[in-house]
Amino acid sequence: MRVKKLSVFIETYGCQMNEYDSDRILNSLSGIPVNNPSDADVIIVNTCAIREKADHKATSALGRYKNLKKSNPNLLIGMTGCVAQLYGKKLIKQIPYLDFVVGPRSIPKLMNIVKDLKDSLDVKKIETSMDVQEVFEIHPYHKKDKVNGFVSIQQGCNKECAYCIVPTVRGKEINRSLEDILEESKLLINQGAKELTYIGQTVNSWKHNGERFHNLLDYLGKLGGLERIRFTTSFPRDVTSKMIDSMKNNPKICRQLHLPVQSGSNKVLKSMNRTYTIDWYRESIRKLREAMPDLSLSTDIIIGFSNETDEDFQETMKLIEDIRFDTVYSFKYSIRPGTLGEKMDVHVSDEIASDRLYKLQKKQKEISLENNIQHISKAYEVLVEGVSKNNSDDLFGRTTHNKVVNIRNLDRSFVGKMVNVKIKEAFQNSLIGEIY
Ligand code: SAH
Ligand code: F3S
Repeated sequence: MRVKKLSVFIETYGCQMNEYDSDRILNSLSGIPVNNPSDADVIIVNTCAIREKADHKATSALGRYKNLKKSNPNLLIGMTGCVAQLYGKKLIKQIPYLDFVVGPRSIPKLMNIVKDLKDSLDVKKIETSMDVQEVFEIHPYHKKDKVNGFVSIQQGCNKECAYCIVPTVRGKEINRSLEDILEESKLLINQGAKELTYIGQTVNSWKHNGERFHNLLDYLGKLGGLERIRFTTSFPRDVTSKMIDSMKNNPKICRQLHLPVQSGSNKVLKSMNRTYTIDWYRESIRKLREAMPDLSLSTDIIIGFSNETDEDFQETMKLIEDIRFDTVYSFKYSIRPGTLGEKMDVHVSDEIASDRLYKLQKKQKEISLENNIQHISKAYEVLVEGVSKNNSDDLFGRTTHNKVVNIRNLDRSFVGKMVNVKIKEAFQNSLIGEIY
């Protein structure tokens, strides 16, 4: 007898690692993805704990599915991801309709957990063990002909940034083997992926059996059928000359780097335990731009950490004005349980932090728009990804610089193709172009 496949609805919060994990969850359950929660046998909320707001969102998201249990008593509702790892048992106690809580390292165990629950419906399951080594066992679900995909090359993080909960909820760094990375890449390429983004918390600190990140980039460059390579997130201290050379010499590697700086002040960086100085960071950017003059740069900034003064904040403003990043993701500091930062005093009021954040974001919006305007009249290769979100007659894709380009009146048969586009208009977050 053939067993009916499970219909699975997953709601995903947080970073690219969570999106990737959601695709692994689907495969670990051999599930069929459904778009409507009322069609599902299993509903999963895959959660993010990076800031307090994100972690509240996770529990309120679950509430939306509570009533579905009345019409479908066999429905299973679970929580995965970083909030699941952080609060474990507490969640099961607090949320009566929650059937299982599974941390990021235990995705390979999901199938057995769900099977057990199907056998006895009044049981609850918690799996948040950290000593799981086979974290990479499950490949992600990849819809056929999807143009881009993710490949995880690293789990967890060995850095100890004072504000950050990631090492607590995702554990110590585990690097995936080269063979495994290549195998998963080929699998996705065979299903139609043209662009792959390699992900890890400090992706450029990857090392395995004597191979380093720059060697990995060289291997990836040789993968047949793969047209574009991206990777994220890089850690500033692990940007090496060899890595820069490998990027420069490999035309498939996109001219884009996300390099979180967090603050422009050495004092704040030190209290954050980021292990580099602003001069070091600026010097890395100089070397990167010298090697790749058109490299597009993005960064993350935390506002109001611990003892940040107005002078410290001015240094951050100075940094973004000097470097002129294409994109800055900025956040107000949020104290997380169990981090070093939890024990530090916070001297910045919420009001001051909001004001600083507003000023930074306002300045950055101007810079992003000015940078994008520079692209007008220039021509780029764009990998077409799908139908534009703004207009269903248009398609969208991205340049090597990770700029979203909406292309007017383009036939859908171009999805998955690289096209030559001339930029006509520029906005803060996207461009408009025409085929030429
Ligand atoms: N490993 C990556 C991503 C970490 S989380 C890295 O090295 O950057 C993504 C971003 O969230 C961080 O870069 C940081 O800017 C922000 N972040 C992390 N913890 C935070 C906290 N407690 N409060 C506010 N922002 C935080
Ligand atoms: Fe967090 Fe720092 Fe690692 S930001 S993920 S502890 S590099």
